Amino acid sequence: MLKRISTLVLAGLTAVTLAGCGGGGGGDTSASSGGDGSITMGFSQVGAESGWRTANTKSVQESAKTAGITLKFSDAQQKQENQIKAIRSYIQQKVDVIAFSPVVESGWDTVLKEAQNAKIPVILTDRAVDSKDTSLYKTFLGSDFVEEGRKAGTWLLEEYKSGTDPVNIVELQGTTGSAPANDRKAGFQEVIGGEAKFKVIASQTGDFTRAKGKEVMEAFLKAHPDIDVLYAHNDDMGLGAIEAIEGAGKVPGKDIKIITVDAVKDGMQALADGKINYIVECSPLLGPQLMDLAKKVVKGESVPARVVTEETTFTQEQAKAALPQRQY
Ligand code: AHR
Repeated sequence: MLKRISTLVLAGLTAVTLAGCGGGGGGDTSASSGGDGSITMGFSQVGAESGWRTANTKSVQESAKTAGITLKFSDAQQKQENQIKAIRSYIQQKVDVIAFSPVVESGWDTVLKEAQNAKIPVILTDRAVDSKDTSLYKTFLGSDFVEEGRKAGTWLLEEYKSGTDPVNIVELQGTTGSAPANDRKAGFQEVIGGEAKFKVIASQTGDFTRAKGKEVMEAFLKAHPDIDVLYAHNDDMGLGAIEAIEGAGKVPGKDIKIITVDAVKDGMQALADGKINYIVECSPLLGPQLMDLAKKVVKGESVPARVVTEETTFTQEQAKAALPQRQY
């Protein structure tokens, strides 16, 4: 009997010790951060597919340094399985907080549950997951992608408000299954869908990369000689498409009007040069807010369930004015 009781006490002590080592400030635990107040964050990045992503990585890395947070960083090369592996490794390493930008929206419940069981809080940054159980993460910091799509559609409506002729649109979607691809498509459709003259004659993924944007646009141009508008879900695909349009002997921004999302320097330069007509901003500078949220969740403080990034839009004239101060 005595032996059974001491085994139980020992088991209890071990559990307490492990929880202490584990750091992590899951909602039901008190926060700890390696005992000396330092915080270690495990961050799983999508990849390095675009100028936006490079700027986002820089922002996260620099902000961690400024905030005194030790950052364990991994690049998933646009593969969900790599992100799941990275998150499991962060759980094993007992980091204090995990942050990640999910490459796609679905398929995260199991690994998020594992983090929750290990009492390690998770922050979603940039992109959302479609988990029904929102207790699996503490907060989601990032843009409103549906609103970005709406802004793109609203510009188009205004641009073609006087005409009645059909407007043939091709769409370069972001990574299939990703939140920005799903939402930017939906927001755009919501705005233009009410007017029969707007026809999306082709829509395909360009995986948010310049190379794929060029390749898919070349195929669009071959299949459809009558394209009026390109809506690209990011600048990089738009810039690739510009090469394809020029290669086909057409003038980007004139023969084919172009709307993109992001507003990275290269995109802004093309906008200022008249090759893009309108850019909806999506800010990659999420690092400082992410580190603030991380400190709070590790301390066990409450944070808003959703933190939406402030963003604007740019016309060609506005791009010329903004370019000299553009940070990324
Ligand atoms: O999730 C944000 C999107 O991902 C950016 O718009 C795109 O450029 C990036 O790859």
